[in-house]
Amino acid sequence: MRCARSATSRSSPPDLGGRFALLLCPLLGLLSGCSGDAPVQQPFEFSHKRHFEAEIDCLTCHEKAADEPHATLPVIRGCMKCHKEKQGKTPEEDVLLQYAGRKEEVPWVQVNNLPGHVYFSHRAHVGFAEMECSTCHGEMKKVEHALTRSNVEHLTMRACINCHQEKSVTNDCVTCHK
Ligand code: HEC
Ligand code: HEC
Ligand code: HEC
Ligand code: HEC
Ligand code: HEC
Repeated sequence: MRCARSATSRSSPPDLGGRFALLLCPLLGLLSGCSGDAPVQQPFEFSHKRHFEAEIDCLTCHEKAADEPHATLPVIRGCMKCHKEKQGKTPEEDVLLQYAGRKEEVPWVQVNNLPGHVYFSHRAHVGFAEMECSTCHGEMKKVEHALTRSNVEHLTMRACINCHQEKSVTNDCVTCHK
């Protein structure tokens, strides 16, 4: 049920589209294979590349990625630390300001979703093992558009287990399945 998690795992309340996905996926899934492989639609364009070029660190926006299990998608309060004043030249920035004006969260859709029975922790990998984000997410600093698909190479049990084997980390089932 990857499609449903995108709506439920966010800290902000699910938007209408999210609720629809939650209700429709079990139904449509039977017909269309609601597998999460279909591209998602994001609320507006966002460029990781431009922010990287402005020398903004990943952890400025993904504050929890080194210290907590879930990196989480950014909340608008963080964006407005800089965007109270106009930073860019594109209409997307005005859309951001409209959300802020309405005191709404931007309903970003999470594109990397493990099934609910799998436990993954950013703190273990980024905090303890000191891994780079790019090891799993590729070159985010070159990404010019809001993501529409998963960018974790092979979000599979095999990929997890292979690296754990290589690094002599436990592969007991309960490590990843609680
Ligand atoms: C060992 C691989 C790995 C590394 C390293 C890693 N991630 Fe992730 N990331 C994942 C996986 C797997 C998911 C999906 C998690 C889920 O569905 O519970 C994910 C999900 C996310 C999400 C979506 C929200 C969430 O927490 O599920 C964000 C944002 C994110 N990662 C950012 C980062 C950033 C920023 C870094 C570096 C500071 C990083 N990740 C390092 C594997 C990794
Ligand atoms: C630390 C400061 C900072 C934070 C935090 C920040 N931005 Fe930006 N943002 C910038 C700067 C600087 C630019 C201009 C980059 C450029 O045009 O080269 C920019 C540009 C943009 C643009 C317009 C692109 C353009 O160049 O016209 C959008 C849209 C945007 N940011 C969205 C966001 C969102 C959404 C968040 C929160 C998730 C966010 N920003 C957080 C500094 C920040
Ligand atoms: C200025 C704020 C900002 C900065 C800096 C930033 N991100 Fe993001 N990130 C976002 C926003 C907004 C989204 C949701 C839109 C999208 O998917 O492009 C996002 C989405 C992601 C996702 C997808 C999570 C998912 O599963 O949906 C990953 C992975 C990620 N960022 C990693 C990184 C990494 C790695 C860096 C540093 C190179 C970084 N981010 C820097 C704001 C930021
Ligand atoms: C590129 C290498 C790599 C990949 C890919 C990877 N891991 Fe890990 N993982 C590690 C390392 C190294 C540690 C040890 C962290 C530490 O120092 O405590 C670890 C630790 C963990 C832990 C904590 C174990 C403990 O005993 O506390 C969990 C849970 C975990 N990984 C789950 C996953 C899952 C689920 C995936 C796949 C979605 C995954 N990992 C993918 C390298 C990786
Ligand atoms: C390092 C993390 C990790 C370990 C260790 C691990 N798994 Fe998994 N497992 C995953 C991930 C990630 C998925 C979801 C992605 C997938 O299906 O490949 C998964 C999926 C599964 C599924 C569902 C497959 C499906 O087709 O839906 C089963 C069953 C499973 N694991 C059993 C086990 C058993 C039994 C063990 C111990 C021998 C084990 N796992 C150890 C990460 C792990």
